[in-house]
Amino acid sequence: MVKKNACVFISGNGTNLKSLIKNSRNYNFPINIKLVISNNVDAKGILFAKINSIPYLIINTKKRNYENLILNLIKKHKISIICLAGYMKIISKKFINEFDKIIINIHPSLLPKFKGLNTFERVLKNKEKKTGCTVHYVNEKLDNGRTIVQKSFFIENDDEIKSIKQKTQKLEHVAYAAAIIKMYRNN
Ligand code: GRF
Repeated sequence: MVKKNACVFISGNGTNLKSLIKNSRNYNFPINIKLVISNNVDAKGILFAKINSIPYLIINTKKRNYENLILNLIKKHKISIICLAGYMKIISKKFINEFDKIIINIHPSLLPKFKGLNTFERVLKNKEKKTGCTVHYVNEKLDNGRTIVQKSFFIENDDEIKSIKQKTQKLEHVAYAAAIIKMYRNN
């Protein structure tokens, strides 16, 4: 199988990045992670790029042209899919148009419910019966593109923010890989 070159954007712990790297070692997994971008110099996830010898860029988003710097690097590495994994910056419409290839994201709720931040708090406050995660295509509206894979679980009476977060993240690692396999299934 000819694998697609992927770039993963992170800002924090990078557990989804770690899981995608692990999956990509599988001969049949459709992507190889060729580049990691972080907007946060302290992101723990950078470690996973380092220990797996994956080129990475820590980008200063205070620079006006920072998205152009990313686009240039992405071209250089012949990236054909961007996987957002906890990246805490909004991707501009201009970036989406200029990249003109696939961008996907993982969100810790059952979209279209609970777009944006603080999802676990809002899920509990709203007394939801179920929650989960969604892998979706990225468009110019926040957490709005077409769903690729959604995975859910029932909320228990004694669940709290911490336990819901843990359960959601565990499911995210499965959902992200499943979404990528699904996207390229017919290629
Ligand atoms: C995940 O919960 C993801 O849904 C959200 O940010 C978190 C990133 O976690 N967008 P990690 O950095 O992959 O551990």
